[in-house]
Amino acid sequence: MKAAVMREYNAPLELEEIAIDDPGPGEVLLKTAASGICHSDLTVLEGGLPVPPPCVLGHEPAGVVEAVGEGVTDFTPGDHVIGCITAWCGVCKFCTAGRPYLCLTQFAGRPEGAKPRLTVAGGDPMGQFANLSSFAEKMLCPERSLVKIRDDMPLDRACLIGCGVTTGIGAALNTVNLPAGASVVIVGCGGVGLSALQGARIRGAGKIIAVDNHAWKFDLARKLGATDCIDASDGDPVAAVHELTGGGADFVFECIGLVPTVQQSVAMTGRGGTTVLVGVVPVQKVVEISAADLVLQEKNITGSYMGSNRFRFDMPKYIDFYLDGRLRLDEMISSRIPLEEVNDALDRMRKGEAARQVIVFE
Ligand SMILES: NC(=O)c1ccc[n+]([C@@H]2O[C@H](COP(=O)([O-])OP(=O)(O)OC[C@H]3O[C@@H](n4cnc5c(N)ncnc54)[C@H](O)[C@@H]3O)[C@@H](O)[C@H]2O)c1
Ligand SMILES: [Zn+2]
Ligand SMILES: [Zn+2]
Repeated sequence: MKAAVMREYNAPLELEEIAIDDPGPGEVLLKTAASGICHSDLTVLEGGLPVPPPCVLGHEPAGVVEAVGEGVTDFTPGDHVIGCITAWCGVCKFCTAGRPYLCLTQFAGRPEGAKPRLTVAGGDPMGQFANLSSFAEKMLCPERSLVKIRDDMPLDRACLIGCGVTTGIGAALNTVNLPAGASVVIVGCGGVGLSALQGARIRGAGKIIAVDNHAWKFDLARKLGATDCIDASDGDPVAAVHELTGGGADFVFECIGLVPTVQQSVAMTGRGGTTVLVGVVPVQKVVEISAADLVLQEKNITGSYMGSNRFRFDMPKYIDFYLDGRLRLDEMISSRIPLEEVNDALDRMRKGEAARQVIVFE
C-alpha cells in the first residue's frame, strides 16, 4: 500500500510502497477514507516530539473496517469508524479512575517479539505513529483505538473528530467544564483552536475572543462563534484582551504551542482564571512564567491532553452535534487533497495558510 513516510526530521515525507500485516488478536484492518492533518504531525516531523523515523505519520483518521482479528466483537467489515491516539486498556489506574485518555499502555503496540504491523520491502520494521499512521491507504489498529460511528456521517468530516475537534471541544467541555457566561480567549485559530472556540459557544460562554496572527482567520472565527477578534501581529494581544475583558479572561486556551504564546496566555488570564495549555510546545523548550503572578491572583494553569476524552462516549456525541447543526465542520476544511500533496499541505500549515486540510483517499 501507499504511505507517506517520515524518513528523517525536517525533510519532506516520502511516498513509498510498504506492507501492512493481517489483523492479529484484538486488531482491526481499515481502509483509510480520510485523514486530517494536525499540527502535531508537523511537530513530530520537526523533531519536537519523541517519535523516531522511519515512521508513517497521520493520526486524525476515519475509515471503513475491512477485516477483524481474533476476539474482536465490537466491529465487523463495513463499519465506519474514527481512530484516536488514546487507546485504553481498561484496567490501569487511570482507566479505572475514569481518565482513560491517560492510559499507561496507550502506545504499547504489539507484544514484544511479534511481527511489526507495518514493514518496508525486505521486512524491516516501519514505525506506526500512535497505533494509527493514517497517511496511508490502510491502517492496522488495536480495536481500542477505534469507535464505530453513524453511517450517515460523511467520513471526510468525521476524520476531524479523530484529533483536532475532540482535543479542542474536549478542552472546554471535559478538561475545565466551562461554565456558561465565562469570558474565553482562544489563542490560535487552527483546527484545534476553532474547535475549542466551538466548545465555548456550545457551552454558552460570554465573550469569546479569538487571537491569531493571520487576520484572514477572523471571518471564519466569527462564523464559528467568536464575538471579538485580535490580530496578534498588530499591537500587544495581552493588552487588547485586558481591555476587552476588564483585566483578563476567565479561561484562556493556548492552541498554538509556542513559548511566547504560552506566556501571553498566562498574562491574558484574569484574577482567579484558568490558562488551558492545549498546544504542544516542543519537548526541548522550557517556558518561564511568574510564580508570584499565579499565587497572588490565584490563577490556575492546566494541561489538556486530547480533550480529556472518553472517545467512545464523546465522538458519537460530537457527530450528533454536527448532524444536528450545533458543531460546524464544513467551514473548518480549507481543502481536500490526495495523499501525493501532503508535503504542500504541511508547507501551508507552516505558513498559517490553512484551517484544516483533509487527505481524501479514493
Ligand atoms: N493537547 C493535545 O492533546 C493536542 C492534540 C492535537 C494538537 N495539539 C497541538 O495543538 C496546537 C494547534 O494545532 P493545530 O493543528 O490547530 O495547528 P494549526 O497550525 O492549524 O493552528 C495554529 C494557529 O496558530 C496561529 N499562530 C501561529 N503563531 C502565532 C502567533 N505567534 N500568534 C498568534 N497566532 C499564531 C496560526 O495562524 C494558526 O491559525 C499544536 O501545538 C498541536 O501540536 C495538541
Ligand atoms: Zn493531532
Ligand atoms: Zn489503561
